[in-house]
Amino acid sequence: MKKKPYFIFSIITSLMLLLAACGTADENTQSGSGAEGDNAPETKTLRVVTDAAYAPFESLEGDKIVGFDIDFINAVAEEAGYELEIENVGWDPIFVEIESKRADLAVSAITITEERKQSYDFSHPYFLSTNKILVPEDSDIQSAEDLKDQVVAVQGGTTGDAAVEGLLGKNNTNIKKFDNNNLAIQELLQGGAAAVVADNTVIEEYVANNPDQGLKVVEDTHAFELEFYGILFPKDSELKAEFDEALNTVFENGTYAEIYQEWFGSEPDIETLQSQQ
Ligand code: ARG
Repeated sequence: MKKKPYFIFSIITSLMLLLAACGTADENTQSGSGAEGDNAPETKTLRVVTDAAYAPFESLEGDKIVGFDIDFINAVAEEAGYELEIENVGWDPIFVEIESKRADLAVSAITITEERKQSYDFSHPYFLSTNKILVPEDSDIQSAEDLKDQVVAVQGGTTGDAAVEGLLGKNNTNIKKFDNNNLAIQELLQGGAAAVVADNTVIEEYVANNPDQGLKVVEDTHAFELEFYGILFPKDSELKAEFDEALNTVFENGTYAEIYQEWFGSEPDIETLQSQQ
């Protein structure tokens, strides 16, 4: 007499388990893995590293990494058939992570230079840049030449750092080097430096977004070279060819221009970029 309810209960439980199992199988079919699900190609996730202290290219919004570079690399990766996991590791660690192949690629407003090309591979150029000088509004600094006997703050290991070393001398203690560009700007705001040298788009955006901080941008097209950003890969990475092809597709199908418009409100010069390939 006591056994009956238990028996019914166990039948119901078994039925429920059976239904649940069917449900799972069904869901698998719908999600596309199907009967041959085990053989279906899975989208590969690549590990991407960046230094998210370089708005508008990459910066943190809460714990989310946002910026032109982020939208750009997601569009190119989607075209190439990859998913991305983007991690904010800081500037110097980017190069360690890529060289040791712990990361698959880096996007971080990284200028393609001959020196870096010795140790890394770059994609085709995707952005045009040059260094400019950020100074207080009332500064007398009008050119790179005027930086020579001044204290200049830079992000260490950048092309801005190299340009200032070229002007002031490699070991000049007047060059204050910081781990990220925001710290260099803080030093300027606190009066610890007379200028910051960094990528034009970054400091122009900074001035536009902080009109109350009394800063201005000085350009010197003679002293500072034209630079191009590229996606950074470990040397001989097979991803380079795939990403170069996908990059040209997003250049040509309007996706790049759309992302560029969103972030900069103007048309990109794709012709100039492609002429560098
Ligand atoms: N374009 C410069 C360089 O490659 C500065 C890049 C700094 N980027 C960054 N995310 N902090 O040296």
